[in-house]
Amino acid sequence: MLPPWRRRVLAYRVIGGIPGGEQLLDWYRPRFGRLKKDGLEGRDKALAEMTRLIRDAGRTVAGKDLIEIGTCWHPVLAVLFHGLGARTVLMTDIVSHVRGELIEQVLDYCLGHSRELAEMGGGDEDTLKARWSALRPGRQRWVDVWRDRGISYRAPLDFSHSGLPAESADLIFSNDCLGYIPVPALEAIMKESWRVLRPGGFIAHDLFVYDDLAIYDRQIPPWNFLRYSSEEWERIGNSHFHHQNRCRPSFYSKLATENGLRILHEELVMNGMREEDLDRSILHPDFRALPFEEIACNHYLLAAEKPKVRGVSASPGPS
Ligand SMILES: C[S@@+](CC[C@H](N)C(=O)[O-])C[C@H]1O[C@@H](n2cnc3c(N)ncnc32)[C@H](O)[C@@H]1O
Repeated sequence: MLPPWRRRVLAYRVIGGIPGGEQLLDWYRPRFGRLKKDGLEGRDKALAEMTRLIRDAGRTVAGKDLIEIGTCWHPVLAVLFHGLGARTVLMTDIVSHVRGELIEQVLDYCLGHSRELAEMGGGDEDTLKARWSALRPGRQRWVDVWRDRGISYRAPLDFSHSGLPAESADLIFSNDCLGYIPVPALEAIMKESWRVLRPGGFIAHDLFVYDDLAIYDRQIPPWNFLRYSSEEWERIGNSHFHHQNRCRPSFYSKLATENGLRILHEELVMNGMREEDLDRSILHPDFRALPFEEIACNHYLLAAEKPKVRGVSASPGPS
């Protein structure tokens, strides 16, 4: 019998292979899956990480034009940044996920946690509450109400060739997104980020770099996917519907610098396991010699800026 994590991969493949299966799962997951059970309560950690990353990078969002890559179902960061005074927030996703009932959940969450969020983001609680309350759509379409207040949603939009105007954003950010994107698209996204950022603008990404199938299978460690070669992982671990690229933190920082960005801040949030509990012999030779931090990192926080250099019109990265 296959272990639970492999049964889950199989389920993704079967559902992804049925016509309309992806849409069905997209409808089901936020309503009945783990997301429904946990609600947005676990979000405070991701919000704290992103606000800390921006602060540690020496930046703010007030008065800035922001773009999010991979908003998914719950636009919590977009709403938080709007509350903190962002001029505009453009939410993007390759699949259209956001719906009216999900944005109500986000507003309930933010308004219900206004004190903690104000403290976390360094904003005034009353201002946050007023801005968030004004996002309630009432009888109007949520997209219209939000657009009038500076938050828009473009999906489906593939950020690897976004078509967005050059030098139109001050910040491009994502949470728990880039780790699911295949490497060629990731490379294109970094190039595209450089093009879309204004000089002096920056990226801020919270990258989840552990094997998320371990959430459903307590028998496997969070670095389980590093046991396999690329070919084997494609065969047993990935599917069109759920793809983990397994890139390690140093890959992302190199990708950023190769594409002309300058690192402002990086942080490795570790999974708490001890080095002596890691049996390197189970890892695939491609990963065995990595520093412990690269293996046992849960989240990698990366902020990097597009330097203020005049007259450069293309990313200096590899073509
Ligand atoms: C795990 S979800 C993101 C979770 C979400 N940011 C959050 O904080 O709850 C990853 C998202 O990235 C989106 N995505 C994948 N490839 C993309 C691309 N090339 N451009 C834009 N979005 C993409 C997926 O459709 C999915 O909604």
